[in-house]
Parts: sequence; C-alpha cells; structure tokens
Amino acid sequence: MSTLEIIDYLGPDWTRCRELIRQSLHTDVGLLEKTNEMLLSRTGKQLRPILSLLSARLVSQPNEDSLRLAASAEILHNATLMHDDVADESKERRGAPTLSALLGPNAAVLVGDYWLARAVEMVLSTSCFEKVIPLFSRTLTDLAEGEMLQLEKASSLDTCEEDYLRIIFCKTASLFVASVKGAAISVSASPAQLEAVEQYAKALGIAFQIKDDILDYTGDKRLGKPVGVDLKEKKITLPLLGALRNADAPKEIREMVGRIDKQEGAYEQLMAFVHEGGGIEYATRQLDAWIQKAERALDVFPDSQAKTFLIEIAYYNSSRTI
Ligand code: IPE
Ligand code: IPE
Ligand code: MG
Ligand code: MG
Repeated sequence: MSTLEIIDYLGPDWTRCRELIRQSLHTDVGLLEKTNEMLLSRTGKQLRPILSLLSARLVSQPNEDSLRLAASAEILHNATLMHDDVADESKERRGAPTLSALLGPNAAVLVGDYWLARAVEMVLSTSCFEKVIPLFSRTLTDLAEGEMLQLEKASSLDTCEEDYLRIIFCKTASLFVASVKGAAISVSASPAQLEAVEQYAKALGIAFQIKDDILDYTGDKRLGKPVGVDLKEKKITLPLLGALRNADAPKEIREMVGRIDKQEGAYEQLMAFVHEGGGIEYATRQLDAWIQKAERALDVFPDSQAKTFLIEIAYYNSSRTI
C-alpha cells in the first residue's frame, strides 16, 4: 500500500484537511505556536484522517464537515500521543525526542490538552456536530478508561485476553471508530452503512494495536520509537499472553514481569520466553483474523477505489514496519 497513492486519490480534500489542522492550532502564545510548528513538521502516518476521508468517499463525496472531522481525528490522535508519552515516560517518537523529553511532562500534558480542546472545537464547528459529538466524547471516555485499566493491570499483573481486548479497543480502536463513522455520518450514510463502517473500524483498530504490540517485540530503528517498552512498563500484551498459553509455570512468568525493573536478566529471559514460546506467531494469527474481519465488514459496499484502499490498509498491518 502506498500512502502517496491514497493522498493523490484524495487530491484537494487532503490539502484542505492539512490546512484545517494547521489553522485550528494557531495561537498568539509564542511558545505554544513554536511547539505546534515543530509538531506539525513531524507528521506520522496520518492514518486516521486518511480513513475518515476514504470512509466518506466509500459512501459519497466528502464535504466540508467530512474534512473537519478528518482533521479533528488527527489532532485528537496527536493529543493522545502526547499524553501517552508522559504516561509511558517515552523519550522518542517519530524518530525524534518526545515533547515530554524536550519540554518536560508538565508542558507535554498542557500542549496535549490544547490539541485535544482544538479537536473538540473542530468537531463542534461542523453542521452535523449533534450526531457526531456523542461518538467523540465516547472515545475520550474510552481513551482515559483504557489507559487507566492498562495502569491497573500493570500492577495486578493478571491481564487476560478479555482485559487486553478491552484495553486496545479503548485506547486505539475507539478513535478509529469515531474517525470513520463520524465521516460517514457527515455524508448521510444509511444505518446499514454506518454499522458496516463501524465494524470495519473496530476490527482495523484492534488489528492495528495488535501489530503495534508485536512490533514492540520485533521492531527495529525504522519504528522511530523505542522497542521492548511494553515489557519494561509491565504491560502484558498479546505476544506474552500467547506464550503464556503453553507455559508450564505461567504464574511465575507473571511474577517475573512484576520484578522486571529489579531482577537482573529478567527482561532478557522474558523476551526469550515470548519469542521461543510462540508468542509472536500466536499474536500474528489473531492479527490476521481481525484483518479478515475488517475486510468482510465492507462486503455491503459495491467495489470502488475507496473500498480497495480501505481493504489494502487493513492488510498493510501484516507487513508494516513503522
Ligand atoms: C501510535 O499510532 C499509537 C497507537 C495507537 C499504536 P500511529 O502508529 O498511528 O502513530 P503515528 O501517528 O503514525 O506516529
Ligand atoms: C497506544 O498505545 C497509545 C494510544 C492510543 C494513545 P502504545 O503506548 O502502545 O502506543 P505507542 O507504542 O507509545 O505509540
Ligand atoms: Mg506508549
Ligand atoms: Mg506501543
């Protein structure tokens, strides 16, 4: 899948969406404006606005509301990353130091709050805001609950697959749903179409986070963020859950995760346990099942370029390295 090809297909809608993002963040507070410019120069994959615009195209033609919802999805996503990097004490993102590393966690939380507030303003500026605001506010609740549940589980060490799925739905898939369904609402999609894009976005979001969690075990420098951090943060994600299924002494392994910051060699032992215990293969099988689920959800739509791209994005999760 080539992002450039999709951006080319989206044409002026894409340019306008980028412009809306830039405009909405404008401020006369010098330090904030300078910080925003730096952040805007380091774009990531911009997957959420791409998905919004493709979702609108799948149903009809994107309008001004669709572009605004696409812009707000990307602004909100970036806000969550700023907050997430504070919560995870991460020093690197998109191949550069995180805002938290550059300006300290206090400033990173405040800039994240500013982006979050601007994202909400952008949603409120649409003519369909009454229908879309419940989606975005649900996502904000999910994000906070997901991150807090993750923290709780990092100390109880008893994460099961059901907990894991709830966490990744809340912290990742929920925003995919708001991005894709919001844009479909903006072009007056039918109830059946809304249901289909919601199922697509949910499955894609879960697949996307499973791949992120696999890459945390297998990724390299191309990722632009540190690897191996989930384990160090005591997060029990799908690769570890997969390896635990065949373990002789799963309780001892979970206890070792709890001692990872104290016991010398624990990190290396756990890494080897996941790789040798089939954890990556297990997570990859689950990933493939979610990708297929995402594809099937789009069956109700006739073939189109937008549909082809949405399916390609789902499959791109198998192979992505960033
Ligand atoms: C990172 O999201 C956070 C997750 C939900 C895994 P992306 O991988 O989309 O980050 P960028 O925007 O491309 O940097
Ligand atoms: C996703 O989880 C975070 C958000 C959706 C905010 P991660 O903590 O795994 O994301 P990365 O790996 O830091 O990008
Ligand atoms: Mg993180
Ligand atoms: Mg991660």
